[in-house]
Parts: sequence; C-alpha cells; structure tokens
Amino acid sequence: MDTPTYRIAAVPADGVGVEVVAAGRAVLGAMEERSGGAYRFDWTEFPWGSEFYAETGRMMPEDGLDQLSGFDAIYFGAVGWPTVPDHVSLWGLRLAVCQGFDQWANVRPVRFHPGVQSPLRSAQDHDLDWVVVRENSEGEYAGFGGRNFAGRAPGRQVAVQSAVFTEEGCERIIRFAFDLARTRERRKVSSVTKSNAQQYGMVLWDEVFRAVAAEYADVENESVLVDAMAAKFVLRPQDLSVVVASNLNADILSDLGSALAGSLGLASSANLNPERRHPSMFEPVHGSAPDIAGQGIANPIGAVGSAALMLDHLGLTEEADRIRKAVDEVTRSGVLPRDLGGRADTAEVTAALIEQF
Ligand code: NAI
Ligand code: MG
Repeated sequence: MDTPTYRIAAVPADGVGVEVVAAGRAVLGAMEERSGGAYRFDWTEFPWGSEFYAETGRMMPEDGLDQLSGFDAIYFGAVGWPTVPDHVSLWGLRLAVCQGFDQWANVRPVRFHPGVQSPLRSAQDHDLDWVVVRENSEGEYAGFGGRNFAGRAPGRQVAVQSAVFTEEGCERIIRFAFDLARTRERRKVSSVTKSNAQQYGMVLWDEVFRAVAAEYADVENESVLVDAMAAKFVLRPQDLSVVVASNLNADILSDLGSALAGSLGLASSANLNPERRHPSMFEPVHGSAPDIAGQGIANPIGAVGSAALMLDHLGLTEEADRIRKAVDEVTRSGVLPRDLGGRADTAEVTAALIEQF
C-alpha cells in the first residue's frame, strides 16, 4: 500500500513565525521518521511575508490562494514587521487566506500545562482547559468601511468600520461550538456578545444562539456580555468549557486565556474550513514578536500545539495526542522557555520535544 502522504504548505512569514514553524516542522519530521513509514509529510515552503513585500509590493503573489489551494493543510507562522503597516501585512496575507478559503471557524484551545505556573493564584498548573471558538469570517473583521473627507480640511477625516453579522455566519459558528461541546467532558457553551450596546448584529447573534441552543438539550448554555466574560475568565474559569464569540471578542479573549495559562507563546489555533472545500490553516495565536525575533528564544509550544491541531484535522488523532502528551512531559520536566520563567531556548525545547518520540 502507498504511504499516506500529506501535502503541507508552510508559510513561516515574519519574525518568530520563522523560528517556531521550523520547530514545529522538526517535531513533525521526527514523528514521521520514527513512524516506521506509517505516513509522510510532503512540505512546500512559501517565502511570503514582509520581506517579500519589500521586494514585490505584495505580501503574497496575486495567485497566492491558487498556489495554496491544492494542499491538505497550511502551517502558518505569523505576519507583521515594523517595516510594513500592520493592517497591510495582516490583510495582505493571513486575513486574505482566512477569508479567501472561508476558514470560518477558528478554534483556540486554552490549555494549562504541568510545571507551568499560572498567574491565576487559584489555578493549579493543569486543572483547567477550555476552547475559544472564534467566528473567523465576518463580524468586526469583515473589512467593510472606508475613509473619506480628508480633503475637507486638516483634522476633518472620517472613518467608518462596519461590523457585519449574517444569520448564516452566526448559525454555523454557534452550531460548530455546540458540536464541539458534545465531544468534551464538560458539555457547555458560553456565548459572548455585547448586545446591550450593539443592538443589531449582536442581538441577531443572541437570537440565533437561543434557537440553536434549543436543539442541543444535552448541552448547557449561557450568554454573557464580553466585559463580564473577561472578568469570568479570571474569577471563574472552572465554569468554562467552550466559549463562542465574534471575531474581535474571541481574538481578545483567547489572548487573555493563554496569558492565564502562562504565556501567549503557549497558545495554538486552527482556522478551519469545516466543509473542506479549501485547505485549513494552523498557526500559533501569537504574532511575529519583533521584540524577541532572531534571538532563538521564542517559545515553540504554540506552534507545536498548532501542528497537533493540524494532525487532528488530517485524521492523525493519535499522533496529535502524542504531541500534546510530549508537550506536557516537557513542561512537567521543567524544560521551560523564558516566557514561562525558564531558561531553555527554542532549540532546547524543540530537542526535548523530539526526545519524547
Ligand atoms: P505578539 O504576539 O507578536 O507579541 C506580544 C508579546 O508576546 C511580546 O512581548 C512577545 O515577545 C511575546 N511573544 C509572542 N510570541 C511569543 C513566543 N512564541 N515566545 C515567547 N514570547 C512570545 O503581538 P504584538 O507585539 O502585538 O504584534 C507584533 C506583530 O505581530 C504585529 O505586526 C502584529 O500585527 C502581528 N500579529 C500577527 C498575528 C498573526 O499573524 N496571526 C497575530 C497577532 C499579531
Ligand atoms: Mg490575536
């Protein structure tokens, strides 16, 4: 029988993205090598990002999505560098891929690890975990709006940034969250909006949430306003299992969650096109971290955890679990990068992970 081969597009892009994608590839490479030929990863690396922009005026080629479309998955680092305005780099690459491939569900597990002290005094090192499910195609990041009136007079410019909520977009992400909750020990979905202040889009979201929740009688549900949810993340995290929220709210809450787990460097994410009409994309939650880029000290765990999510998506769930277990073994053994209070550099953490296979 032919060895199952997974074609993966690597887009490391900028800053620590390059370092952590290399670490994730090294871990997957070691697994592949020791799998006895059970599967193979066929990598193609794309040199897109802020340097590519400096050379070509684009973050990726015009036909970039066509080039990616045949792959089984995309393994992404991070975009952004001080030489390119952030909205140009983000819209030119990461958001272009997410929207172009309709990766409408962004799954962001918040995992606590043995040996990593949470800044939450009440949290033991690994008794908490929840998943932030982020609407990833519309909402506040729909890209609708414009700027005008600069010609009126200095200081008179006007900008409109509209949030777009569609019934279909709300329903599919909320249903996704309920289906995910059914796979977890704690069957509960918490919906987050700001529908007291944002009376159109977010009230529509709340209505759809109530309708979908009624179909999942076996899953607990609650609706919480985003400001209260921020407090709840800190004060009652044990009440959370699946948290579903709009693009912006979930973006903020997932950073808060990973900080509570110990560092942004730990957090992994999957940008899914659940219908599998297009490739999905897996990336650490963090950005390009220009403040530490190039020093070899970036925490690779978020990128390695994202590789595990990629394996889940490819149907290699046992291998994905092995990666998560390896991460826990490494943190438990005290091999911690600097953002977690340790002294290990990227290469040392990666080597310790590889030793687990
Ligand atoms: P950031 O996530 O790059 O960094 C925030 C803080 O976390 C920094 O102190 C950084 O050193 C630390 N950090 C991040 N990743 C780490 C890792 N793996 N190990 C250890 N420490 C880590 O966010 P920031 O500074 O707001 O943005 C920097 C650039 O990244 C900007 O250009 C921004 O637009 C871009 N960005 C890109 C994202 C993406 O590609 N998905 C997501 C967030 C930001
Ligand atoms: Mg973010």
